Amino acid sequence: MPDENQLVNKARPYSNHSVFFKKNYTAEERAATLEKVGLNVFFFPSEMITGCDMLSDSGTTTMTNEQWAALFRGDEAYGSNKGYFLLINRIKETFGPEFFNDPTLNKPNAFIFHQGRACEDALFSLLGKTGAGLIIPSNGHFDTTQANIEANNIKAVNLFSEELHNEASNSHFKGNMDIAKLKNLLDEKKEKIPLIYLTITNNTGGGQPVSMANIKEVADLVHHYNIPLFFDACRFAENAWFIHEYEPDWQTKDIKDIVKQMFSYVDGFTISFKKDGLTNMGGGLFLKNNGLFLKKYPTFPDTLLNYQIIKEGHPTYGGLSGRSIMTLVSGLKTVTKQEYLTHRISQVQEFGQTMHEQGLPIVMPVGGHAVYLDINKFFTGTAMKPEDFGGISLTAILLAAYGHRACELGYFAFGSYNKKTKKEIFPEVNYIRFAIPRLKYEKQDLDSVAEAMLLLYKNKDKIPPINVTYGRDLPLRHFKARFEFNE
Ligand code: F0G
Repeated sequence: MPDENQLVNKARPYSNHSVFFKKNYTAEERAATLEKVGLNVFFFPSEMITGCDMLSDSGTTTMTNEQWAALFRGDEAYGSNKGYFLLINRIKETFGPEFFNDPTLNKPNAFIFHQGRACEDALFSLLGKTGAGLIIPSNGHFDTTQANIEANNIKAVNLFSEELHNEASNSHFKGNMDIAKLKNLLDEKKEKIPLIYLTITNNTGGGQPVSMANIKEVADLVHHYNIPLFFDACRFAENAWFIHEYEPDWQTKDIKDIVKQMFSYVDGFTISFKKDGLTNMGGGLFLKNNGLFLKKYPTFPDTLLNYQIIKEGHPTYGGLSGRSIMTLVSGLKTVTKQEYLTHRISQVQEFGQTMHEQGLPIVMPVGGHAVYLDINKFFTGTAMKPEDFGGISLTAILLAAYGHRACELGYFAFGSYNKKTKKEIFPEVNYIRFAIPRLKYEKQDLDSVAEAMLLLYKNKDKIPPINVTYGRDLPLRHFKARFEFNE
C-alpha cells in the first residue's frame, strides 16, 4: 500500500454540511455603498461581501451538523432547562470540576451570560466598588475588556512581552505576560490590584498564545502576593494547541489535559463562547471553588446572582435561549479535538505564511485566530502619516475593490483624541486584523485575500489618507466614526 502520509495536500477533517451562495456585486456598487456608510466597514451590509468576511472570528463560526441537531433539541423552559444540566457537565469536563458547583449545593460559582462583555461588566462593576485607584494588569486587555474596566473607574494596564515587537525573536509565545514589568507593578502597587488577567490567546497582542510556563510563573508570582489570577479564556483551546505543538513536555499530552492544567492555575475566568465555544452567542463567568478569588470576595456570588437575574435572566439560562445552550454543549466538545484544532490553526498559519512570503509585513509567527498586518511597516516609504489613519483607508479599499472585509485594530481603534491639545494619542500597536471565522473558508478564499493584499501593497503610494468626518473624539470610536478619502 502507498503511504497516505506522503500526501502534502491533505483533505480537510470535515465536509461542508450546508452552504449559501453569495450575491454578485460589482466594485462600483460596493464602493458606492461604502461611501454611504462613511467608509466604516462595520456598517457595510454583509450580504454585499463577495469575498471573505474577516471582520471577526466572534460568533461567526459555521456550526457542525451535531450542533444543528442539538439546536433542535433545545429546551426553552424558563427554569432549569435540559441544556443547563448538560452544560454543567461539559464545563466541569472541559475546565475542571471546581468551576461549576452542583446547583443543589446552593453555592453558585458559575454564571452564564449572553456574551463575554456582559461577564466583564458584572465582574468589574463589583470590583470597582471595592476601592479607589484600582489597577487590573493584563498581558493585553481586549478593547471591550479595557472599556468595561475603565467604565468602572479601574485602570487597565497592558504588560505586553518585549518579544511581541522583536522581529528577530521566533518565540511561539509572544502573547506572554512580561514578568519583570509585572513584578515591578506588584512591588509598587500590590494593594491596588484586585486581580490579574491573562488573555489566552492574546487578541490585542497579535493573537499570540501564552505558554504554560508563563501561566505558571504568573500564577506563582501573583499568588505569592495573595492576588487572584483570572483568564480571559475566549480562545482557550487554540492556546492549548500551541502549547501542545511548541512547548517542550506537552507534545505527547492530550489537548483536553493541557486545558485542565492551564485552568488549574487560575482562580476564575471570563469567557466569550462566541470564539472557542464554537457557537454564535454565549459567555460565562466562572469562579473556582476554594480559589483565592472566592476566599477574598466571599460575598461576590450572591451579588453576582442578583446582577445576573436583573440583567440577564434566571441563573439556569442567563441570557441564552435553551437552544443556544445546546449548541454550546456540543461546540465545547468539538473544539478540543486535536484534528479540528490542527486544521483550524494550520489554515490561519498557511494564510499568514502566504502573505509573509509575498513580502507583506505581518506579525510572525502567526497566532491562532487571525493574521495581523503591521500598518506602519506597510506604508513605509509612502507619504502616509500616523494621523492619516492609513489602516482605515486600506480596509476601505480592500472591501470596495476586492470584496474582502478586514478590520483596523490600531491607531484609530485603540487611539484617542485629546480635545484640549487637538492631538491624537497613539497606542503601542497599529495593525489590520484578518480574523478567520471557524470552519467557514477554504484555501482558495484565503488565497484570494492574500493576492488582493499583494496588489494593494504594490500600489501602496496610491492609497489616499483619511479624513475623520464624525466621531474622532468618541469612546470606542471605531464602531461609530465616519470617514472620507482625502484625495
Ligand atoms: N475578550 C477577548 C479576548 C475578545 O476577543 C472578545 C471579543 C471579548 C473578550 C468580548 O467578548 O464579543 O462576546 O462580548 N472579541 C471579538 C473580536 C469581538 O472580534 O475579537 P464578546
